[in-house]
Amino acid sequence: MSQVTHDDIDWASKLADMRRFDAIESSAVREVATKLVEQAPPGAVVVDAGCGAGGMSAALASALRGKGGGTLVLVDAVDELLRAAQDAAIAAGRDSVSVTTVTADVATEPLASRVPEADLVWASAMVHHLPNQQAGVVTLASMLGPGGMLALAEGGSPQQFLPWDTGVGRPGLEARLNAARDEWFGEMRAGIHGAVPMPYGWTTALTRAGLADATSFSYLVDHPAPASEAVRQHAVARFTWLADTVGDRLSPGDREAVAALIDPDDPRFLGSRDDVFLLYARTVHTGRRPR
Ligand SMILES: C[S@@+](CC[C@H](N)C(=O)[O-])C[C@H]1O[C@@H](n2cnc3c(N)ncnc32)[C@H](O)[C@@H]1O
Repeated sequence: MSQVTHDDIDWASKLADMRRFDAIESSAVREVATKLVEQAPPGAVVVDAGCGAGGMSAALASALRGKGGGTLVLVDAVDELLRAAQDAAIAAGRDSVSVTTVTADVATEPLASRVPEADLVWASAMVHHLPNQQAGVVTLASMLGPGGMLALAEGGSPQQFLPWDTGVGRPGLEARLNAARDEWFGEMRAGIHGAVPMPYGWTTALTRAGLADATSFSYLVDHPAPASEAVRQHAVARFTWLADTVGDRLSPGDREAVAALIDPDDPRFLGSRDDVFLLYARTVHTGRRPR
């Protein structure tokens, strides 16, 4: 296991799942990338910090290409993911976008000295894996040039896949799974060595990092039933992860229900149900470095 982050998660082993998820989110994040890059100057320098498998990296590269080109810097602690993101971004940016990578731990490295001054820094679902989230926001803000924008994708609404009554166990299973997942998340954060609580919202964190005009917008990922094979596979992967991660927090009845839903030999298997969908919102919090 390559373990270089603070959260005890083996990110490299998640590459295939992250790629599938990137494909599911691709049209939603393409719009977000276009909206953010539109606000940057021509030939912009854009950073994707905690780029994962590179779904948004590709969308940012494509948006830069649509504006005549620019520079995209990918930052992650995990080399396997950086390589995947780099391939995706190069394919999307073609010859118009210069794509470089920086292997770095955002929690400890002075990134401003390793990355050119940025017009846009994007960080999705990465800051909440750092011990000190506010310090991470300050580090990301320090990479901005005057007038540059930091955009943090954090929070939103949980992913939903199933009707209230699934025909397996007691209705309302997903709400109980998500409550258990929230408890696990709190413990995951508390278990990070040197974890510092951040008892306020992301726009406040941006303002405390010295950024102006802090605000948010949300985007929807909406794949109605009957969902594609990729969405159903994602549902199976998500419920399998929930069973592994929070199964011991569930009642015996809910544990049995989840086991039936992820069992390919069970007639109620998630992977072959025609009522599986995927719906969730993600929130993007933005702030600007004053000129
Ligand atoms: C949940 S994934 C998000 C990936 C992608 N941004 C997305 O939204 O799909 C978190 C990413 O942050 C990276 N990461 C976690 N801790 C990090 C750290 N301390 N420094 C740099 N990257 C980190 C992980 O390797 C992983 O790629």
